[in-house]
Amino acid sequence: MSVLDRFRLDGRVAVVTGASSGLGVDFARGLAEAGADVALGARRVDRLTATAEFVEKEGRRALPVATDVTDPASCEHLVAAAMETFGRVDILVNNAGIGTAVPALKETPQQFRSVIDVNLGGCYWMAQATARVMRPGSSIVNISSVLGLTTAGLPQAAYAASKAALVGLTRDLAQQWTGRRGIRVNALAPGFFHSEMTDAYQPEYLETQLPRVLGGRFGEPEELTAALLFLASDAGSFVTGQTLAVDGGFTIT
Ligand SMILES: NC(=O)c1ccc[n+]([C@@H]2O[C@H](COP(=O)([O-])OP(=O)(O)OC[C@H]3O[C@@H](n4cnc5c(N)ncnc54)[C@H](OP(=O)(O)O)[C@@H]3O)[C@@H](O)[C@H]2O)c1
Repeated sequence: MSVLDRFRLDGRVAVVTGASSGLGVDFARGLAEAGADVALGARRVDRLTATAEFVEKEGRRALPVATDVTDPASCEHLVAAAMETFGRVDILVNNAGIGTAVPALKETPQQFRSVIDVNLGGCYWMAQATARVMRPGSSIVNISSVLGLTTAGLPQAAYAASKAALVGLTRDLAQQWTGRRGIRVNALAPGFFHSEMTDAYQPEYLETQLPRVLGGRFGEPEELTAALLFLASDAGSFVTGQTLAVDGGFTIT
């Protein structure tokens, strides 16, 4: 197998959560371009249908499934639907997430818990559901954030805690499953990429943070999807338990 062939995903099946907008759409399209069929999970099914069209344009099959990752039964349902339609699940991209910025002295228990429920709980329930059916050679990629590794000027205790927790979750699941079940578990820590989440930022805020990005710009979705394909495919077959920052240098400044 050539080095470039190791990035191919022909015959593989991926599950992508949060595939109704932003990075999840690019991930689904990139996985399909590499050869995978893709099951798509999120709450807005109309938007998942639009993502499915991108996957189908790449010549692959898509399966949109209404999913709320805070509900373990809904996660089980997404994986069961993927198994019923495609017969296997090789890749999980745990991408669904919400972001908030609330000063710690004002944040309500409900606000804090809602972020943890989606960003941490959702990844764990999805990892459990997929690991039960995955075969050796499979790969889970958790979408953490640079906020899991550093601060970025906003009051984001819930978000930062949830994304740092994914670094630990990734390490522990890799320890439990890589040797015993042949499932690698890694994380990506994206810097700034345009999406519905980042479109909510004030321009003044970005001006304070962009000087910390060595390239002085947002990342392009393809730059993140390329890293995802490395971790999801056999190109990353000896990499597990790692969190890879794709951030233009943000975390070293
Ligand atoms: N963009 C960046 O610069 C950046 C940087 C670092 C990390 N990230 C991470 O990247 C991931 C994608 O974010 P994005 O920037 O692409 O934001 P986005 O456009 O807001 O997408 C978030 C996705 O999560 C889904 N989602 C939210 N709650 C959900 C739930 N309970 N169940 C199922 N799906 C749910 C949303 O779908 P529905 O609303 O349809 O359910 C949506 O598809 C997130 O984990 C985020 O923290 C992004």
